[in-house]
Amino acid sequence: MKVARVTISDRASAGIYADKGGPEIERVLRAAWEEKYEIIASVVPDEREVISRDLARLADDEKCALILTTGGTGPALRDVTPEATRDVIEKELPGLGEAQRMLSFATVPTAILSRATAGVRGRTLIVNLPGNPKAIAECLPPLIPAIREALRHLAE
Ligand code: MTE
Repeated sequence: MKVARVTISDRASAGIYADKGGPEIERVLRAAWEEKYEIIASVVPDEREVISRDLARLADDEKCALILTTGGTGPALRDVTPEATRDVIEKELPGLGEAQRMLSFATVPTAILSRATAGVRGRTLIVNLPGNPKAIAECLPPLIPAIREALRHLAE
């Protein structure tokens, strides 16, 4: 099984700072995922068309079962990850974003600024996560059972 982790950040893609979100996704997966998988890493700027093209490539050409994105989910002008995700998915799974906001809001009041969503393209599940590595550590582990179940449905 192939899993892609896509860091969406102008500054990380320009090499202005190191990509910390992508490695954090890998760390959480190593702790939570016992199945064998191959990781494909990608870093792209906050450009709607560049993001959607990369998501489509990872789904259609690389045949990734799962694509986890990090960053670009907030309210800033350049934050377009949910729009780029909606451009390529055939079915939206809003619960994966709702759960992130719901579970973090009590302890992190700014969690509701994330507009993260999720959806399905073909047999590929795409899930948005916020960009902050601490947010990935908080948001991703509770989603693992639903991600695993969705992948089972998509493999049928
Ligand atoms: N969720 C958790 N659990 N922890 C956080 O620190 N940061 C929030 C939110 N979600 C945060 C979080 C903030 S401040 C923003 S602006 C949004 O995620 C969007 O982040 P992004 O634009 O990097 O995706």
